Amino acid sequence: MAEQSPYSEKVMDHFMHPRNTGEIPDADGIGTVGNAICGDVMKMFLKIENDVIVDVKFKTFGCAAALATSSMVTEMVKGKPISEALKITNKAVAEALGGLPQVKMHCSVLAEEALRSALKDYYTKQGKPVPFESKEHKHEGETCL
Ligand code: FES
Repeated sequence: MAEQSPYSEKVMDHFMHPRNTGEIPDADGIGTVGNAICGDVMKMFLKIENDVIVDVKFKTFGCAAALATSSMVTEMVKGKPISEALKITNKAVAEALGGLPQVKMHCSVLAEEALRSALKDYYTKQGKPVPFESKEHKHEGETCL
């Protein structure tokens, strides 16, 4: 094991063994987001009962950081009320993974955005107003490697 990885052990674990991958055929909310620079895409499926996220699955075509953050965010929101899930930021996901290299921080935005997009879809399908604002995906000069 001489190779130095820029990723934490947790990132590597979630990258090698992603949790909650796949689709939910009868999902209550589906969100698809893409990273405009690298073209990576994440799709998230939510099953919601009484405002609680009872199941979540995802499909991500992307880099190791995108895959690991997708996997981690599904673990963080599963079983949580929507109100709690909405408090989860991309930074919190990155922290839960033991940190990400600075140049890969933007990859974690995909996970947060996919969650919000799926919740937006859920509220729209329910015919209810979306109770949160969408966030702009900003790269802030970071390079997508
Ligand atoms: Fe595109 Fe990570 S999300 S390089």
